[in-house]
Amino acid sequence: MSTIALGMPQTRRDPREAPPVDGRPAVPELVDRFGRIARDLRISVTSACSLRCTYCMPEEGLPVPPREQLLQPDEIGRLVGIAVRELGVREVRFTGGEPLMRHDLADIIAASRAAAPAIDVSITTNGIGLDHRLPALLAAGLDRVNVSLDTVDREHFRLLTRRDRLDAVLAGIRAARDAGLTPLKLNAVMMRETLADAPALLRWALDNGAQLRFIEQMPLDADHSWARDHMVPAAELLVVLGAAFELTEVGRDDPSTPAEEWLVDGGPATVGIIASVTRTFCDACDRTRITAEGTVRSCLFGDDETDLRGLLRGGATDAELADRWRAAMWNKQSGHGISLPGFEAPARTMGAIGG
Ligand code: 5AD
Ligand code: SF4
Repeated sequence: MSTIALGMPQTRRDPREAPPVDGRPAVPELVDRFGRIARDLRISVTSACSLRCTYCMPEEGLPVPPREQLLQPDEIGRLVGIAVRELGVREVRFTGGEPLMRHDLADIIAASRAAAPAIDVSITTNGIGLDHRLPALLAAGLDRVNVSLDTVDREHFRLLTRRDRLDAVLAGIRAARDAGLTPLKLNAVMMRETLADAPALLRWALDNGAQLRFIEQMPLDADHSWARDHMVPAAELLVVLGAAFELTEVGRDDPSTPAEEWLVDGGPATVGIIASVTRTFCDACDRTRITAEGTVRSCLFGDDETDLRGLLRGGATDAELADRWRAAMWNKQSGHGISLPGFEAPARTMGAIGG
């Protein structure tokens, strides 16, 4: 399949230009050429992180743009308000890098809450420092957290994240649980190095009242070391988990949820698997993403970005911002194309785009 059939632009557009809107119906929602509607907004607030997970970051970390290039809390609040009021967005999640690296994260959440009081606001975090920050984040209006945890084996954690911080992460998860943030979700990227730890991780999640979801590793690492024959496919993880637990497939609650669920030992507890590579769900994708520097990123894959920060700071109206965002999403590519010949990983990694 060609890049055109995939819906990918052949040359990268200047992010400051308005993307083409030929054929777009005059509807307020974030529709694309493939009939999808984006209702789930992910906003990356920084590319900085306290860990260096090998599937995401290079050893030395990612360059962090100067503060003035990052969207500020009032700007983020304004975009959230536009997304919810004008574009039909129903859920907002802050990601990174590591969102807790922003000292003004509580201000970001408060501004978003004020702009859109009725929606669900959550963060995806590595959990480090969450125990200390949680009271302020909750007061600002945080509803839920997703914590990334790939193994409970301390040495494997150190090797995978290049930091010896397992205890800090577990303290963060326990704090979220004790604060009653439910459902408390844990994300684990399936890596060959930690595959044998998967049953112990699931046991820990069950014992701590958390819902664990495994994610297939995607080619979004800064070192470009992803290889199909090295990644762990969902089917292989199921064999490993199946040796320790009785798993009963229950499928998806809703078609746009990427996780497929299994009952563990007859339930009610479940384990999820997000098989982004081997059981692609791009045709049900409902995500729209904003990077820390204020560009719309319509897909994790595909380097097409559309700048909103320049408009925000240049005095654009809400209607103008909404139109630019709609145009950006109209040009969303049909899928990640990981399985197609000639696939090239995006230039920006997960740490820079936001998970
Ligand atoms: N493949 C799959 N998931 C990834 N994440 C980061 N990099 C990758 C990758 N290459 C996950 C993190 C976190 C979320 C933000 O994205 O583990 O849970
Ligand atoms: Fe940091 Fe998350 Fe990337 Fe790990 S996956 S390095 S915790 S941003």
